[in-house]
Amino acid sequence: MTTALITGATAGIGAAFARRLAADGHNLVLVARDEKRLHEQATELHDRHGVEAEVLRADLSEDAGIAAVEKRLADRKHPVDLLVNNAGFGNKGSFLDVPMADELKMLKVHCEAVLRLTSAAVGVMRERKRGGVVNVASVAAFLPRGTYGASKAWVVQFTQGAARDLAGSGVRLMALCPGFVRTEFHQRAGMGTDNVPGWMWLDADRLVDAALKDLARGKSLSVPDPRYKALTGLTKIVPRGALGRVSSVSGRRYGPTR
Ligand SMILES: NC(=O)c1ccc[n+]([C@@H]2O[C@H](COP(=O)([O-])OP(=O)(O)OC[C@H]3O[C@@H](n4cnc5c(N)ncnc54)[C@H](OP(=O)(O)O)[C@@H]3O)[C@@H](O)[C@H]2O)c1
Repeated sequence: MTTALITGATAGIGAAFARRLAADGHNLVLVARDEKRLHEQATELHDRHGVEAEVLRADLSEDAGIAAVEKRLADRKHPVDLLVNNAGFGNKGSFLDVPMADELKMLKVHCEAVLRLTSAAVGVMRERKRGGVVNVASVAAFLPRGTYGASKAWVVQFTQGAARDLAGSGVRLMALCPGFVRTEFHQRAGMGTDNVPGWMWLDADRLVDAALKDLARGKSLSVPDPRYKALTGLTKIVPRGALGRVSSVSGRRYGPTR
């Protein structure tokens, strides 16, 4: 039986990965900060699918949290076959409205944690000549969209570069770039989404299904929806200034500043 470790497993896209991988018979290591929610989810997935679901409480915006997950990934007696670096969040506000501590926290969770956990996992996977890593980025990676877009651009570049370095090793790495997905993300970030048209919203379970198909096909970049494939294609030809005018407002109506 194989084991998958998912960060940010308690809600949204991470929870969809957990449901799908448990249904496929993978044992799980579920990572997030809310321990009660983690235990409830582990019990439910175990009872429904008969898989082992371990709980690892960790705050990936802190060194100790990242180190705890690195340690689990480096455990050669209980190897992890699939790592999903999914934990992430949005900050409330545009550049300069967001406190520097929150900007740095985002870089820690979206970039440093992804770098360190990918490295810890791939070290063991390479010895075993098999394994996979899905790093959840965003279509915002292709747009001028604040620190969020910049951090996700880093995820895409890092993942595709590492995938190239590991070609032929038996280890697959893939950056996953969703568009708007109905999860807790926007509410947590205090983002109003009234100006996001209905057709732009994706379903988390379908997204995960498409992502796992792309991973099996050996893709290093997955934009799993024809609408967003077309939009990311446009980002290559539309001038950056025009892109910035549109992307800096879509889904970025914030409530009152703190
Ligand atoms: N929803 C979208 O439209 C969208 C679009 C593109 C990309 N994404 C990306 O998809 C990923 C998942 O987002 P989502 O939409 O599923 O968001 P979500 O519903 O808010 O879930 C976020 C998950 O991450 C965990 N998390 C947040 N901060 C953490 C931290 N410091 N340490 C450990 N775990 C943490 C949360 O659990 P705890 O609070 O218990 O820690 C939760 O399980 C993110 O990387 C996001 O950037 C989302």
